[in-house]
Amino acid sequence: MPKLTLSLIKADVGSIGGHTKPSKRMMDSVNHEVAEAQKRGLIIDGFVSHTGDDIAILMSHTKGEGNVQIHQFAWNCFLKATEIAKSYGLYGAGQDLLVDAPSGNVRGAGPAVAELEFEHSLKSPRAAESFMMLAADKCGPGAYNLPLYLGFADPMYCAGLMLPNMIKGFTFHIIDMDNTGGDSIIQLNAPEDAYKIAALLRDNERFGIDSIYSRTYDEKAAAVSAQRLHSIAGKYTGKDDPIAIVRDQGIFPAPEELISPFAKAHFVGGDARGSHVMPLMPVPLNTAVTGMYCLPIVACVGFSVNKDGYFSDSYADFFDGSSWDEVRRRAQVKGIEMRSQGWSGAAMLPYTELEYSGFRDTVGGLVKQFAFRDGHRAGAAAEVAAAKKS
Ligand code: 13P
Ligand code: MG
Ligand code: MG
Repeated sequence: MPKLTLSLIKADVGSIGGHTKPSKRMMDSVNHEVAEAQKRGLIIDGFVSHTGDDIAILMSHTKGEGNVQIHQFAWNCFLKATEIAKSYGLYGAGQDLLVDAPSGNVRGAGPAVAELEFEHSLKSPRAAESFMMLAADKCGPGAYNLPLYLGFADPMYCAGLMLPNMIKGFTFHIIDMDNTGGDSIIQLNAPEDAYKIAALLRDNERFGIDSIYSRTYDEKAAAVSAQRLHSIAGKYTGKDDPIAIVRDQGIFPAPEELISPFAKAHFVGGDARGSHVMPLMPVPLNTAVTGMYCLPIVACVGFSVNKDGYFSDSYADFFDGSSWDEVRRRAQVKGIEMRSQGWSGAAMLPYTELEYSGFRDTVGGLVKQFAFRDGHRAGAAAEVAAAKKS
């Protein structure tokens, strides 16, 4: 077959009683559209799921990355689900559809996109094709920076890196998400550039992994949706809630090597109003965001792909089951600890992140009222950094 493409496109287009989960009718509608697209041959296979309030459409096809038909199809699925959300009065109907109608592909229009194209011959070195799909809610696109770095560049997590298939390491394509002029990317090689990679990826709010490539086989291993909704909208419209596709096994790390870093439940930016620093809790697919706070969550499921590009008839849910209960408990404890200091310091995101939300108006209004000790005001109000786009 020609090259196979996996496209994962997700959007939050409304949810029940807050930012919790999409309704059943919305999910039914997207599932119906995907089944129809499969029947008419637009896609080979499709799979619809939700993580918190985000609906993700996973598709296999032969049209390549950034294909307009595929992207427009996903956009129309989200439009139909938005109509349902509106008619039932759901919260945030159409939240992530930030432009009226994208003319081409939906990158930069609101929905998150992760795509991966590869030769699908099922010959060596990929005698079997398996991949995982990751979807996170209530967090920024840098949420995968640490776990993917550890999975693809640190033999303490991925002992497979010491094997001949992987010992040359992986190339990280890292995107500067602050650059709104276009996709501005640097390529750095692990292991020799490991410290440089870490120096960028430590900043989850500015730099994100865009993709990862095998240096031995020049094969794309991972694709991440690294874009900032606030850079598109110019204001806070909801958190970015990143998705990713990661090919695994053989010439790539194994699922267990890739998911073990998530046992940290590391702190990420997100949570309620996208304003806090809270732990990322691994959860089964199709989990609603409920409970105290608005804990960032991540789901990860695995599929196999047959010779014709069809997904396995069921998936492996990597964050389901009792082995993750302890991690979930620890995430909850970490969350309670962090929230016990409320708004203070490290518990909330820095002002540069919050400036896109109403915090800017509150702080800006107060800054205008400052005066020097002798009472004069001229020059006393330090400029509150302007949002990058308004
Ligand atoms: P979402 O980005 O998932 O819609 O959440 C937004 C929010 O502000 C939750 O408090
Ligand atoms: Mg929402
Ligand atoms: Mg969401």
